Amino acid sequence: MEKTEKKPGKYNNARKQAAKMANATKVQKDGMVFHEYPDYETYKKVQTVGNKAKIGLQHVQESHIKALSTYLNDAYGKVGFGLCHGTRRGLEQTWFRDHLNGKPEVIGTEISDTATEFPHTVQWDFHDENPEWEGKADFVYSNSWDHSFDPRRAFRTWAGMLKPGGMLILDHCKGHEPKGANALDPFGATYDALRGFIDTELADLGSVVDEIDRSDDPDYKARVLVFKRAA
Ligand SMILES: C[S@@+](CC[C@H](N)C(=O)[O-])C[C@H]1O[C@@H](n2cnc3c(N)ncnc32)[C@H](O)[C@@H]1O
Repeated sequence: MEKTEKKPGKYNNARKQAAKMANATKVQKDGMVFHEYPDYETYKKVQTVGNKAKIGLQHVQESHIKALSTYLNDAYGKVGFGLCHGTRRGLEQTWFRDHLNGKPEVIGTEISDTATEFPHTVQWDFHDENPEWEGKADFVYSNSWDHSFDPRRAFRTWAGMLKPGGMLILDHCKGHEPKGANALDPFGATYDALRGFIDTELADLGSVVDEIDRSDDPDYKARVLVFKRAA
């Protein structure tokens, strides 16, 4: 998922390079596409090389993070701690810090070793649980779920990081559709398939409570799925 219209060369080159390196197997199922890598090291290498090839690009825009911050401010009044997953340049956590009430701590994860170059960013694979974050977050946000090699594991890990009543916020853009999936963005799903997947795989942890329609934003068109952890 990327702003292909602005940087088609960089995006296409990174995708071709990933396809060569990954030797991934594509599996299609119920409105979803998955790519299986030969091993974890290959996945990590493909993601890191892709991150470096596209290090100058930015997908989510401040207008969108501002709108999500308003949503969270309205829901909670004040936010204490938030996590963003797959953040590359660290901008979404910086914007959440600027627009959320209460000057919260907002941290981003990034699998690539470039993480250390960007503010409030930790080098961390978002599939992995982190005891320091377990049950602590008022919200978890991502537009990078399409980079998951195991979306069930990623989504369950993220839901586990929420406080009771905390929200998991997932953007769904055009590039997240099944036809956008490839060796670099291994998971694709229609909005309805994503919703069905979350309903099924996270049923014991909470439920989908909202969809925020931001398809009119000229800078970043998205439908936003909101899952709430049971209190
Ligand atoms: C499409 S980019 C989106 C970056 C940013 N959110 C934006 O809107 O521009 C996806 C990012 O997720 C990172 N990523 C991929 N797999 C990851 C993983 N398992 N854990 C953490 N970050 C990951 C990639 O390196 C890349 O920087």
